Amino acid sequence: MPYDLVIRRATLIAGDGSKPFEADIAVNGDRIAAIGRLDDAQGIEQIDAKGKVVAPGFIDVHTHDDGALLAPLGMDPKISQGVTTVIAGNCGVSLAPLLLNGTPPPPFTLVGGRENFRFDRFADYVAELKRRGIATNAALLVGHTTLRQRCMPVTDRPANEAETVAMQDAVAEAMAEGAFGLSTGLDYPPAIDSSTDEVKALAATAAHLGGPYVTHTRNYFETMDEAIEEAIDIADHAGGKLFISHHQCTGRANFGKSRPSLERIDRARETMDIGMDVYPYAASSTVLRLQRCDTGLKILVTWSDPHPEMARREIADIAREWNCTEREAGQRLLPAGAVYFQLDEDDVRNIIAHPRTMIGSDGLPHDIHPHPRLWGTFPRVLGHYARDIGLLTLEEAVFRMTGLPAKEFGIAQRGLLAEGNFADLVIFDPETIIDTATFEEPRRPAAGIEHVFVNGVPVWRGGRATGALPGAVLKPSASKTLVRGACGCAEDHSAS
Ligand code: ZN
Ligand code: CU
Repeated sequence: MPYDLVIRRATLIAGDGSKPFEADIAVNGDRIAAIGRLDDAQGIEQIDAKGKVVAPGFIDVHTHDDGALLAPLGMDPKISQGVTTVIAGNCGVSLAPLLLNGTPPPPFTLVGGRENFRFDRFADYVAELKRRGIATNAALLVGHTTLRQRCMPVTDRPANEAETVAMQDAVAEAMAEGAFGLSTGLDYPPAIDSSTDEVKALAATAAHLGGPYVTHTRNYFETMDEAIEEAIDIADHAGGKLFISHHQCTGRANFGKSRPSLERIDRARETMDIGMDVYPYAASSTVLRLQRCDTGLKILVTWSDPHPEMARREIADIAREWNCTEREAGQRLLPAGAVYFQLDEDDVRNIIAHPRTMIGSDGLPHDIHPHPRLWGTFPRVLGHYARDIGLLTLEEAVFRMTGLPAKEFGIAQRGLLAEGNFADLVIFDPETIIDTATFEEPRRPAAGIEHVFVNGVPVWRGGRATGALPGAVLKPSASKTLVRGACGCAEDHSAS
């Protein structure tokens, strides 16, 4: 019997950090069927991949793709990079479970407009993804900010006991319905007004169920050290894994702080389990923040509701045109988003080089003029940081975007080239792979990505999407069912 697909004479990078080797690889259905010398094997489809690398499809551990997964062509920025699995629901903002009437306020805009906020239960969102079909696999987090909006009548204060219990129940329910863990975005309203105790309670519920605490910390700027301490304290109390999202040292006063912060994380690791992710650029992007205006910082507008025509322009330039201060200009642009050129390249490199750092794009798919990380992150790490700069070997770079995140997040049978594993595969040219998206032209697909398969089905080839939607909504392999009351609430959440 012929295989469905045989890829011949490829350089295989297995995804566990081991050295590349030459071999053929065969696929049947959604699985890797054989790896080795397959001279006699027939394939219904055959690809000669001499000189090309075959690696496990990349896992983008930090995304805001909750809404993009639902949109036609919404995942093109990811499949064009070789990404086959995304982790959504980050920075405290998950699409579900939340019904929103009216225009969503920031930071809910990270995952789209009001039409997206229509899932009263986490399970409703999962069912909709399955019904429509998705281009990549998806692992979903449930967001603290989303639960505050759901469970609190006003959100500009810490949650009281009853509200905290309601959010704990919602975490447990979401996890029974497939969520991998809890995310927070403590830097943004309305989560900025939460108490550490409130977050500890929710993180404990997630940890009881085997889920990690994934945090956009309280602050990456003025009080970045205290914010890392708070994250460690919360996860230590909860007893589960901690992932620090897009680790960075923001603002000139923090340049060079990656060394002490990584040392602090390593020290905490002696008694607890901590990982982190990074995007490979020295500029950040989020909603437009007025306190950053008029500080001499270069700020690029990525979207604006009242002034969409100002996307891609610098705020200093807009202020000049409007004959006002940057802050006044910012006020008129709100709600809006921005890129901030406020990170130090040496810090970015130190963080990428740390052995526990995973790669996460933090791409913002709904921005009019997005940060180039949305389309460029993975090829930039492979082409720029691994091949051109030599910051890490190619197999180590692949490990940080495949085997490591699969292990860290408990994603079974993916992230590794092995017989019997799911056939999430990328074929790329190690000589030419590179990001081409820039701050000026951010929507350009990367170069050097030749074929991308999700569950054995091609989703990207010859520079374009095939339109196939073979992705699966993943279930965590680490999750436990909860005995009644173990998370401190009254309901029985045991998954059937
Ligand atoms: Zn974030
Ligand atoms: Cu984010």
